[in-house]
Amino acid sequence: MSTSRDFILTVEGLTVSFDGFKAVNDLSLYLEHNEIRVIIGPNGAGKTTVLDLICGKTRATDGAIRFKGQELTRMKEHQIVRSGVGRKFQNPSIYDDLTVFENLEVSYPRGRSVMGALAFRRDQQVLDAVHEVAETIFLADQLDCRADLLSHGQKQWLEIGMLLIQKPDLLMLDEPVAGMSVAERKKTAELLKVITRDHTVLVIEHDMQFVGDIADRVTVMHQGQVLSEGSLAHVKADPKVVEVYLGH
Ligand SMILES: Nc1ncnc2c1ncn2[C@@H]1O[C@H](COP(=O)(O)OP(=O)(O)OP(=O)(O)O)[C@@H](O)[C@H]1O
Ligand SMILES: [Mg+2]
Repeated sequence: MSTSRDFILTVEGLTVSFDGFKAVNDLSLYLEHNEIRVIIGPNGAGKTTVLDLICGKTRATDGAIRFKGQELTRMKEHQIVRSGVGRKFQNPSIYDDLTVFENLEVSYPRGRSVMGALAFRRDQQVLDAVHEVAETIFLADQLDCRADLLSHGQKQWLEIGMLLIQKPDLLMLDEPVAGMSVAERKKTAELLKVITRDHTVLVIEHDMQFVGDIADRVTVMHQGQVLSEGSLAHVKADPKVVEVYLGH
């Protein structure tokens, strides 16, 4: 039986109300170190809002979010990032006119702004980190390529790399394989498996093939609440899940 000390992230009673509408309603979630958790559920279930609440983009109306023993609900977004939470949004936010190398370099934690990062000495530590991450995200041969010339999938990987180079303990990805080819989806699944050696990953995804490839556990959300949770096989067999999500 786990104790609360085993969880890297503990979310309890999380609620947010938008003009009286509870987009997230008394939600609890417990993530273990190095697990890949996937949140699935119909459109409007509140999945993205949960990530917004964890990363501090949206303020909770009620509830607690504990990450590595720290309470996040009162912290500012940049403090939450510094505490080790990395968040990838649906549309990649990469610098189009910089190369892959430069995109990774500016994301290195010593200089977050473009000017600041380019000004500092490219010491060995930064070079090593850039090359290591480029290898992980399958872009080692594209380091000198301008980011806007990458394929859609490669752009998504680059953005994951820009998070990885900051060494977050928790990585949150909102629909990372949307718009990707089948081959790119398979490689992204491989990538996430590698990432969880050193990180905990929270993913929102609709592609059930991909969910099956990556998920340790699945949380199904519906109307702001947890409808079902467990292995993919478990939630797939849950009649409540079939009714609201998988049945159509
Ligand atoms: N800032 C906001 N203000 C008002 N309503 C919001 C806000 N953010 C989200 N909502 C509402 O909360 C509900 C949940 O939205 P959310 O984006 O979290 O759903 P989702 O599960 O991510 O859906 P999808 O699968 O379509 O991405 C929706 O009804 C949405 O309109
Ligand atoms: Mg969403």
